[in-house]
Amino acid sequence: MSRDRLPAWPAVPSGQFPEFVGASGVWLHTADGRKILDAAGQACVANIGYGRKEVAAVAARALEDFTHALPPFATPQRLQLVETLRSKWLPLPLTRIHLVNSGSEATDAAIRLARSYQLCKGRPERWKVIGREASYHGVTLGALGVSGHHARRKDFTPLLSKVPLAPACYPLRCELCAGQQGCNLRCADGLEALIESEGSDTVAAFIGEAIVGTSGGALVPPDDYWPRVQAICRQHDILLIIDEVITGFGRTGRRFAFEHWGIKPDVVLAAKGFTGGYAPLAAVITTDAVIAPLVENGETMMFHTCGGHPAACAVANEVLEIIDREGLIERAAQLGAYLGLKLEQLRDHTHVAQVRGRGLLWAVELVRDKSTLERFPEKAGLTLAVVQAGLERGVLFYFGGTGEHRDIICLAPAFIIDTAAIDTMVDVLGQSIDAAIAGLGFISGD
Ligand SMILES: Cc1ncc(COP(=O)(O)O)c(C=O)c1O
Repeated sequence: MSRDRLPAWPAVPSGQFPEFVGASGVWLHTADGRKILDAAGQACVANIGYGRKEVAAVAARALEDFTHALPPFATPQRLQLVETLRSKWLPLPLTRIHLVNSGSEATDAAIRLARSYQLCKGRPERWKVIGREASYHGVTLGALGVSGHHARRKDFTPLLSKVPLAPACYPLRCELCAGQQGCNLRCADGLEALIESEGSDTVAAFIGEAIVGTSGGALVPPDDYWPRVQAICRQHDILLIIDEVITGFGRTGRRFAFEHWGIKPDVVLAAKGFTGGYAPLAAVITTDAVIAPLVENGETMMFHTCGGHPAACAVANEVLEIIDREGLIERAAQLGAYLGLKLEQLRDHTHVAQVRGRGLLWAVELVRDKSTLERFPEKAGLTLAVVQAGLERGVLFYFGGTGEHRDIICLAPAFIIDTAAIDTMVDVLGQSIDAAIAGLGFISGD
């Protein structure tokens, strides 16, 4: 970017990243004429790739028909989206859909929903929503309050929920299962212990990402984790909210990641993937059973003025149609398996502690010392250095971590990626890790 032009958003330091002027397929185009391979879907959002004219066309048509329609009003685009989600995407008993503009808003709405549900059930003492360590549910104060993202929380602690966080399911760094063969689900026991110490009759809901996205870096839990957490929630009559903002709409090789474990959440949060970044849209999805007490009490969910904008709904209808028509979920599963195999080549790297993921959501966690899992110092800024080294070599990776957990590089390409591009991104990732670590000036074991 030329130095005499102000960045579009003054809070972002200028000069750190290239100026992007366009995009097509899996490529981002820079102002200086370069093409950057997007290995991250920007922030795990560009699931169908860039520049699809048919998506732009339906948005234009919807804007001609409706400049705006208040969220409670039915429009053809909204009705079609609700019908498509119900008939093709949502397993029963998920039938109710509340549309908002962002993942953060969806989390806030889910917190409000949980509270309204408990109030309408005659349980006013139940208001706490428990989140987990190493998680992210959004940047609004409600969402940050249930997020285990220390870097994003730290300046706002006085304004955030004081309800403690439950342990993460993060076997690499888990003190609860250290030295064991694998995860012993003591993290789930930790959730139960927290519910009991807080008083289960004060807890309204528990929220977690089915597979932790970028904060923990593609943390896939063992197969018995979610069934156990579901059982704990049921036993204590607590709503189970599953955040599928990153994982929903095919990213992990299923429609929703919770379907890998056959659980039945009470509330599901969805965003990014169903518009593929072509428009802002998010949804809080729930069941008739959760909505019934609100209906009986004449309670409605307050909306955001532009929530479920007709143009965004038209975009989502088209994007979902493309995912279906082109078999992109199956493709995400197949190419995800290929990406996982390809990433194996990094496992023996001196500074790679772990490679993990599912479908087309993967992460590589870097450490200074592999035997002790000692991290590089936070001030070394290794994550940013790797991302910048990637950009210099023509590939965009995404920053993972929470500050406390760090040096996690995420990969979440569009589902239309091919094996040649996957080979390139993994090769460049290896080179970028080496270049970034060399640039820090640390000697191994230093
Ligand atoms: C799992 C998860 N939930 C919620 C959010 C918040 O979504 P948004 O940035 O659209 O507000 C994010 C954002 O990255 C996310 O990764």
